[in-house]
Amino acid sequence: MAPGLIPQTFIDELVSRADIVEVIRARVPLKKVGRNYVARCPFHKEKTPSFHVNAEKQFYQCFGCNAHGTVIDFLMEYEHMAFPDAIEELARERGFTVPRGAGIPDHSEKHRTLHEWLEKATQYYQRMLREHPQAQVARAYLERRGLNAEVIARFRIGYAPPNWDNLLPALGGETAKAPLLEAGMLVKKEGSGRVYDRFRHRIMFPIENQRGQILAFGARQLGDDPPKYLNSPETPLFHKGNALYGVYQVLGQMRSTDCLLVVEGYMDVVALAQYGIPYAVATLGTATTAEHLKRLFRITSRVVFCFDGDRAGRSAAWRALEASLPELRDQHDIRFLLLPEGEDPDTLVRSEGLDAFTTRVHRATPLIEHLLGTLQAESSPGKIERQAQVLARVRPLMTNLSSEIYRALLMRELAGFTQLPLDQLSELMRSSVAVPQNTPPPPKTTQPMQRKSGRQIGEQHATHTSPMRTAIGLLLKRPDLAKLAGDPSRYAGWNIPGARVLTEVLTLLQTQPTLSLAAILEHWRGTETGPYLTQLAQWTPMVPAEGMAVEWKDALERLAQQARDQETARLAEKDLSTLTEAEKGQLRALCTRTRTG
Ligand code: GTP
Ligand code: MN
Repeated sequence: MAPGLIPQTFIDELVSRADIVEVIRARVPLKKVGRNYVARCPFHKEKTPSFHVNAEKQFYQCFGCNAHGTVIDFLMEYEHMAFPDAIEELARERGFTVPRGAGIPDHSEKHRTLHEWLEKATQYYQRMLREHPQAQVARAYLERRGLNAEVIARFRIGYAPPNWDNLLPALGGETAKAPLLEAGMLVKKEGSGRVYDRFRHRIMFPIENQRGQILAFGARQLGDDPPKYLNSPETPLFHKGNALYGVYQVLGQMRSTDCLLVVEGYMDVVALAQYGIPYAVATLGTATTAEHLKRLFRITSRVVFCFDGDRAGRSAAWRALEASLPELRDQHDIRFLLLPEGEDPDTLVRSEGLDAFTTRVHRATPLIEHLLGTLQAESSPGKIERQAQVLARVRPLMTNLSSEIYRALLMRELAGFTQLPLDQLSELMRSSVAVPQNTPPPPKTTQPMQRKSGRQIGEQHATHTSPMRTAIGLLLKRPDLAKLAGDPSRYAGWNIPGARVLTEVLTLLQTQPTLSLAAILEHWRGTETGPYLTQLAQWTPMVPAEGMAVEWKDALERLAQQARDQETARLAEKDLSTLTEAEKGQLRALCTRTRTG
C-alpha cells in the first residue's frame, strides 16, 4: 500500500456509500430475517446464529460474543486488517482509489516490515538451536524439561547464542539495524551509537499473533544471568498487556467443544500441548486485562483461568475475576482452577497425566461460586458480620457485572445466603456509580429482570435513559435532526456529562448532513468517546419514526432545564451581596423561567 495519510473526507464518502450487508455477505453467508440479516457469528464458535447485520443502521452486532461495529470494524476484525488496510480494501471493492494526503497515519507498512524481520530472527534462533556449538546446553535443558522435537517445532522454540553481536550480521548487517532496534531485538548503548543483542544465551519463545506473525519474544535464561525471563519491550507490534502466548497454536488445534485454559507460563502452554491439552494460552506475567478477555471471548465462550493455589495465585485469580465481570455475557462460562500449592500445569500434567488434569479442568469452579466462596472465606467468623461483609464487597462487583442473567442469579444466591427478600437485596445492591466528566455513563440496566425476550438487533438494552443519551442516541439514528438544534456552541457550556460529545456530533452533522451512522462513528475511532457513541448507536429508541423530532426537542429542552437548574443552584449558593448586577439579573431570569418552564 502507498504510504501516506488518508483524508477524512474520503473516509466519510466511502463509508457513507458502502453497504455493510454486501461486504459481509461476500464473506459470511447471511440469511434475511425481517429487515435484518443473521448468520452464525464469524468471531466465535456457535451453533445457532446470533450475529445480526442491520442494513438501516449499517451496523453489525453479535449477541453471543458482543462483537459489533461498522463496516470498517468488520473488515478489521474479520480480515485482521489495520485501519488503513480496511479503508483500502473497502475502496478497492467499490472501485475507488484511496487518495493520500493529510489525515490518518498509516502504520501497516511498518508493521509488515517488522513482522518480516522478526520472522527472520525466529528462523535464525531455530537454526541456532540445531547448529550452534553451544546450543548443546539449550537442547539438554529442553530435554530435561521433557519437551519433544515435535512440540519444540510447533512452538518454534529457538536458541539465542552467547555474545553481544550475533543478530545483526546473521540477519543482513546495516539494513537490519533500524527495524531490529524498533522491534526490540537490539539495544542501543548509551552515549555511542553502538547496538548489541538484547537476548543472549537464552531459550527463545516466539510470541505470535492469531495469524502466526511474530510480535515479540520471551526468553528464558540458561545460565545465571537474571531475570529468569526477559521479554521484548513494548514495540509498535507488541503490547504485553494484551498478548496471549500460544493463541496461534490453539486456533490450529482447537475443537469447537473445547474451552480455553488460561495459564501463567510459556512452559505451561508448551508442556500442556505436548501432553494432549492443545487449548492453553498464557498471559505474559501480567494481570489479566479486559483486552485479554475480549480476545479470549472472540475464540470461545468457555474460559478456565488456571492459577497456582498459593497466596499470589489466589490474588491473581481474584484480579482475573474482577477483570472478567464487565466482559461477562449471558452465554459465557468462566471458571477458576486453583492448583495445589507449589504445582503448576507443567509439573502437574507430567506427574498425574492427561486424564487427571482434564478432570480438574472440567471440575473448575464456576465464576459466581468462586466469587462467593472467596468473599466468604475472607470474611469475619460471625454469621451476620460475614453476611454484611460479603454484601458490602459484592456491591461494587455487581455494578460491573454486565450480564443480566448472571446478575439475577448472583442475586438469588445472595438471597439464599442472607435470607433477605430479593427486592430488599436489589435495593441494597443499587449503588451509585460515579459519572465520568466528559461522557455520560453507558446505557446501563438498572432493573435487571425487565429484559424482554426475543432479542433484536438494536433492541433497547437500556431500560433507563437520560435526556443526554436520548438526545445523542436519536441524533445518531436521525442525523437530520441536527438542523433543528440551532448553534451547537450553546450546548458546549453545559456542565452536564455528554454535553461536549453532543456539541461535537452536532457540529459535525451541521457541516456534513449526509453522513451515515457508520461514517459518523468513524470520526471518533480510537478516541475515548468512540466506544460510548458505538454503544448508543446500538440502542433503538422506543419512539415511532414520526415522533422522533418531538422526542428529540423534548430531550434538548429537558437538558436545557437541567443546565438552568444547575446555574440557579450555583448562583443561589453564592452570598447575594457578592453577586454582580449581571448575575442578579441572570438569577432573576432563571428563577422566572424555572417556574414557568
Ligand atoms: P519455568 O520456570 O521454566 O517453568 O517457566 P514458567 O513459564 O513456568 O514460569 P513461571 O511460572 O515462573 O512464570 C510465569 C510467567 O511469568 C512466565 O512464563 C513469564 O511470562 C513471566 N515471568 C516469570 N519470571 C519472569 C521474569 O523474571 N521476568 C519477566 N519479565 N517475566 C517473568
Ligand atoms: Mn513452570
